[in-house]
Amino acid sequence: MAKRIDVSGLTAFYGSHKAIEDISMTVEPRSVTAFIGPSGCGKSTFLRTLNRMHEVTPGGRVEGKVLLDEEDLYGQGIDPVSVRREIGMVFQRPNPFPTMSIFDNVAAGLRLNGGYKKSDLNDIVEKSLKGANLWNEVKDRLNKPGSGLSGGQQQRLCIARAIAVEPKVLLMDEPCSALDPISTLAIEDLIGELKERFTIVIVTHNMQQAARVSDRTAFFNLSAVGQPGRLIEIDDTERIFSNPSVQATEDYISGRFG
Ligand SMILES: Nc1ncnc2c1ncn2[C@@H]1O[C@H](COP(=O)(O)OP(=O)(O)OP(=O)(O)O)[C@@H](O)[C@H]1O
Ligand SMILES: [Mg+2]
Repeated sequence: MAKRIDVSGLTAFYGSHKAIEDISMTVEPRSVTAFIGPSGCGKSTFLRTLNRMHEVTPGGRVEGKVLLDEEDLYGQGIDPVSVRREIGMVFQRPNPFPTMSIFDNVAAGLRLNGGYKKSDLNDIVEKSLKGANLWNEVKDRLNKPGSGLSGGQQQRLCIARAIAVEPKVLLMDEPCSALDPISTLAIEDLIGELKERFTIVIVTHNMQQAARVSDRTAFFNLSAVGQPGRLIEIDDTERIFSNPSVQATEDYISGRFG
């Protein structure tokens, strides 16, 4: 079956510092892949290479290949802005546009693309907020600022904003780390629903979360401080958490280091 994402030999730099080295992996459509590993091993860096966000950092540079549905995202003539539309991102800290209303936050990406009638916008905003399990909480205050919501609501607003443009892939970098346990469970449930429509890659430091939400888990590690991070293994989540192939994976998930 065709892979949604197919990465081969990916190395990423910040200036002369090689942050991650020689990463290869594939991701199936409509699946959840969790990235785990100790701080500094390059999970966020790798995630950002998948939608060409890494190069936004000064000195950010990538070698290797990333294919999305067999198209080379670093190929000639590929517009990074259109890549980021196909591969959306949700960050650690909810980052709604503070001066914008809830409605406008969700509609922002659609307006950038242009060509939507008011009635289409209304429909898509409603559908996206429903998709993010936020509609019931905000439907009576769509014109109020997004910054007036709780942290967990803001994160669901950011998810609504990300899914409004119908990306193929949703990248999430520790999306629950600023949230309380109830909001965290709400986002985890949501991930389970969203994977029916989207392909999801999530970075998490929470092993239970990786085990609960993901189909596949990738373990990254560093051989020493200052060395580039590498992909140690990727496998079915059940396997990674019950019988990983590499000792370092077992040590990490059982809390023996990292
Ligand atoms: N903007 C940057 N400029 C220079 N180096 C950076 C930058 N961001 C990250 N790095 C370096 O790249 C390496 C990987 O960092 P990255 O943030 O990807 O790790 P991580 O696995 O996401 O860590 P954490 O779990 O703490 O979020 C580290 O050595 C880090 O210092
Ligand atoms: Mg990180």
